[in-house]
Order: sequence, then C-alpha cells, then structure tokens
Amino acid sequence: MEKIVILTGAGISAESGLGTFRDEGGLWSQHRIEDVATPEGFVRNPGLVHGFYNARRAQAARARPNAAHRALARLQRDWPGEVVIVTQNVDGLHEAGGAEAVIHMHGTLARALCGACGHRWDAPEEMAVGEPCPACDRPAARPDVVWFGEMPYRMDEIYDHLAEASVFAAIGTSGQVYPAAAFVHEAIASGARTVELNLEPSMSVSSFDEARFGPATETVPAWVTELLGRQG
Ligand code: APR
Repeated sequence: MEKIVILTGAGISAESGLGTFRDEGGLWSQHRIEDVATPEGFVRNPGLVHGFYNARRAQAARARPNAAHRALARLQRDWPGEVVIVTQNVDGLHEAGGAEAVIHMHGTLARALCGACGHRWDAPEEMAVGEPCPACDRPAARPDVVWFGEMPYRMDEIYDHLAEASVFAAIGTSGQVYPAAAFVHEAIASGARTVELNLEPSMSVSSFDEARFGPATETVPAWVTELLGRQG
C-alpha cells in the first residue's frame, strides 16, 4: 500500500497562534539566531537562551492543535498504508491533535538534554541556568532542541522513509533550512508524487509536482479528504 511521508514546518502551527520564523514579524525578526539558536550562543549567554525557550514552551503549552494537525491524525488513522509525519517544529501540537509516532527532527520544547552526559528528561516549565542534570548532576541542562550547526535527529530513519515514499507532502515550511529542504529531492528519487501545501510558494516550490496555496487549516483537511476519498 502507498506510504505517505509528510514534512511539516512552523506554518502548520501558525493558526494555533505560534509564531513562524521567517514571516513578517517572525521569531527571527525578534531574536538573533546566533544568540538564541546556536551552541555558541548558549555558552555566551545561557540565560538569554533559556528565556527564549521558556517563553516558547509557555506559549506552546497554551496552544491548541488546529484543523490541519487533526487532519493529519485522521490520515494516519484512515489511510490503509503507513503515514509518517516528520516535523521541524518543537511544539507538541501534532501529538495533541492525535498524531502518532511523530519524528521530531529538531527536538521538542517538552524535553531537556544534558550537554555533558546526553541524558534526556521532561523539561520543567521554566529551565534555569546551571540546572543540574538528574543523571550526572553536572550543571549542563539545555533545551532538547537542535540548534544551527547541530545534526538534526533521526536522519537515517527519515531517509529510509523517504526511500519508500509513494507520496511526499511539505506543509507550512519555507524550504530554506537543510537538510529538510532537500527531502523533496529524496522523495523524487524514490518516484514519489510530491505536493507542497503552503500559505505562499516556498523556496523549493518548483521541485514539487503540485502546490496548493492557502492556510493549512483549509488546504490540509481538503487534501486529506481527497486522498481518503480517492482510495475508496
Ligand atoms: N498555513 C500554511 N502555511 C503557512 C501559514 C499558514 N497559516 N502561515 C505561514 N505559513 C508558511 C509561510 O508561508 C512559510 O513558508 O509557513 C512557512 C514558515 O516558514 P519558516 O518561518 O521559515 O518556518 P520553517 O520552514 O518551519 O523553518 C524551518 O528553521 O529556524 C529554523 O529550526 C527552525 O524548524 C525551523 C526551521
């Protein structure tokens, strides 16, 4: 049965009230990436970085999944083949919307990571500088989020899924950050049909067989209904 692989970005959570990065007024117009989303920034000023992620963690905790998140969960439930959701997002809205086995390639706000021993645990609402790791006790706790210059998580698994994809969809991502922006090329190499669902054309829109523009809460449910209707 056809395997569907879906990549999501900040745009799928925009209508849940979570900011995107590169849209007008987005997170990268309010903060410098090198200060809040790099290992060097964390060493330079861990308090600033914890403050950035504490605010995003609190906002994500208040956010609710939207019709797009719920539609992807419906697709996972009702599609006869496998549906794999790979997200660049660090919010938990896919799971809150009913999705399962979501691959968080950029980590999640809900988890903390020890920079010294690699231990992971559920992050407290507010992380503070010098917080000791529950496993090794060293003051090396950081958000379990992948920063620029770090390797995204579970890439081997993701490439294996892309190699088996019959359908690949990119939803709510500007296609400006690699390796995620190149997933469409992996999918094309596997012979998959590719579709972009975005508010406006992404940087990689020309690589897709098809592109549908509009808010995710409209385009994603319509796309899912069509897919499920088509398989009869
Ligand atoms: N519905 C659909 N798409 C939307 C909506 C919406 N309501 N609102 C915005 N978008 C689209 C924008 O048009 C844009 O193409 O979502 C995309 C968001 O792009 P970015 O802000 O660049 O976010 P993303 O692509 O997820 O960024 C990738 O960059 O900074 C890193 O680690 C961070 O995971 C992030 C990665």
